[in-house]
Amino acid sequence: MSRHRNIRNINLEDEMDDDYDDYDNYEDEEESESLYTYDRNSLSANYYTYLTDSGRNSPAPPAPPSSNASSSYYPPVSTAAPTAGPASAVPSSIVRNLTAPSLQQQKPSKHPNSRPSTPQAGSNLNTPKRTQQVKNLQTEAASPSGSRVSSEVDLSTFRRNQLQNIAKATSVPRKAVKPRAVEKDLINLIVVGHVDAGKSTLMGHLLHDLEVVDTRTIDKFRHEAARNGKASFAYAWVLDETEEERERGVTMDIGRTSFETTNHRIVLLDAPGHKDFISNMITGTSQADAAILVINATTGEFETGFENGGQTKEHALLLRSLGVTQLVVAVNKLDTVDWSMDRFEEIRNNLTVFLTRQAGFSKPKFVPVSGFTGENLVKRMDLSWYDGPCLVELIDSFKAQEPQSDGPLRIGISDVLKVASNQLVVSGKIESGEVEKDDKVYIMPSVTPATVKECANNDGWKHCFAGDFILLTLQGTFEPESVQAGSVIVRSGPDTLIPAKKFEVRLVVFEIATPIIKGAKSELYSHSLCMPCTFTKLIYTINKSNGEVLKQRPRFLAKGSTAVVEIETEHDVAIEAFTSCRAFGRVTFRSGGNTIAAGIVEKVITPQ
Ligand code: GTP
Ligand code: MG
Repeated sequence: MSRHRNIRNINLEDEMDDDYDDYDNYEDEEESESLYTYDRNSLSANYYTYLTDSGRNSPAPPAPPSSNASSSYYPPVSTAAPTAGPASAVPSSIVRNLTAPSLQQQKPSKHPNSRPSTPQAGSNLNTPKRTQQVKNLQTEAASPSGSRVSSEVDLSTFRRNQLQNIAKATSVPRKAVKPRAVEKDLINLIVVGHVDAGKSTLMGHLLHDLEVVDTRTIDKFRHEAARNGKASFAYAWVLDETEEERERGVTMDIGRTSFETTNHRIVLLDAPGHKDFISNMITGTSQADAAILVINATTGEFETGFENGGQTKEHALLLRSLGVTQLVVAVNKLDTVDWSMDRFEEIRNNLTVFLTRQAGFSKPKFVPVSGFTGENLVKRMDLSWYDGPCLVELIDSFKAQEPQSDGPLRIGISDVLKVASNQLVVSGKIESGEVEKDDKVYIMPSVTPATVKECANNDGWKHCFAGDFILLTLQGTFEPESVQAGSVIVRSGPDTLIPAKKFEVRLVVFEIATPIIKGAKSELYSHSLCMPCTFTKLIYTINKSNGEVLKQRPRFLAKGSTAVVEIETEHDVAIEAFTSCRAFGRVTFRSGGNTIAAGIVEKVITPQ
């Protein structure tokens, strides 16, 4: 495959997935942003929700680069940015980013300020009924306290020396253990799409039809939602669990739950569609193996989400750049257009071109559904023009990924649940390796030593492996803010993770109006991490068709270009080369409320 070249001695050929073979057919037809995005193969996880809630189961010519680096700000690409827009069998809540030194009670995680949210200046609203709701959200999201910026740690010389000692330490040999045999493979499934596409309703209805959520609960939700003037959101309440979300009728943070299909255990991640909460969507996507992209088929709504700067394209690009290759497109709300075949085909044709040629999905599957009325979710519907599988059959056809249990320990912390000066409870996903009670570990980037006091995955297993989503109780001496979402748990020895501020990244530039120049500021996203960063060097651009270096030290990076750059983060962060750990080597850059680029870390530049 022509684009899979050795670049600067890093051979990524092996990292490629066969899916790209199909995708290669499109390579010459049109510039594709996906050419240098890569597949992930070490996935599958589970969620703490089980632990705490068991039983519930032609490109425009680039504008000339500014000579003033400090003015390099990247406005939104699109011409418009329309965004608008219990006692139950639902996941229990958690606390994110708690940093107070005293033990705290659990609070709902789905707080608007729990993750960064970049307000969109002048955002349009796609439905008048949400105007006020979205304005409220934007006001809240504008608050700097809404930032999810992770682990603001700058390593002192003392810590750097400590780090060197940790890396020099001989690794303690681990006894050979076989990962548990499981009956059904685990798939982490993220549901994405433009705000109001009906994601939560679709999934709530599916869970009800699968009898994961009982009718009494739905009736109760219907009753309560009606009292709040939101009767149509009853199914959405299964996943929209916080008061704010229910009041506003907008998902703000990832809703998590699980169910089983014939062949798989599914961990469901219901992402927010609103642009202000995109960082939560990115975190969820970084943990997903497969995705459902929900499209609102209502007249005018598909166009709003897709063509006019809505979230459909950005979500699809983010999925792909974060390594998700398996995609089902649920064409939803078809009841509002009388189950029109023409509308379904129109949406399918438009999306197929974008998804295959620009986003790089090889074979997206389309299914007509109505999350509201429930057709084609778990039972095939009687439709003259569609006799394909229903939604749950398509979910069942996803393939699970092989977890990397024999690699060095890497646990990405996604939430800090309880904090005390000597004890922490965190949740996270093991990306590689295995962990059990009494293990000595380090938390990066703050280089905090800790001992694992307790550890369990969703099924209660105490010895946890790559792919597991776990709860960990850690003992040590913890300084405020030293452990946050985006921190990574590792072991000592040569395989430890060395935090850094400078990285060489190979990236592809998305649809941006103003080219990226040296000194440009951006936000870097990787696993659960968000950190301000600067493009400190534009090292060279790459010819997409043959992987050769096009130009050394380019003055700017226009949309669609592929390049190697040096970036510097504001503080030390725990990310590493893609070749060492895929999950922590994938990065996404956002600026001005848009995703401007995505890529992989080629090199970590540590201070000498
Ligand atoms: P965010 O998470 O905030 O992005 O929204 P969402 O995509 O989860 O949409 P949600 O499920 O909250 O539904 C938004 C509105 O669309 C609600 O009023 C739903 O009742 C309605 N809705 C969802 N699915 C359908 C459908 O299939 N048909 C009809 N007629 N309405 C639907
Ligand atoms: Mg929702």
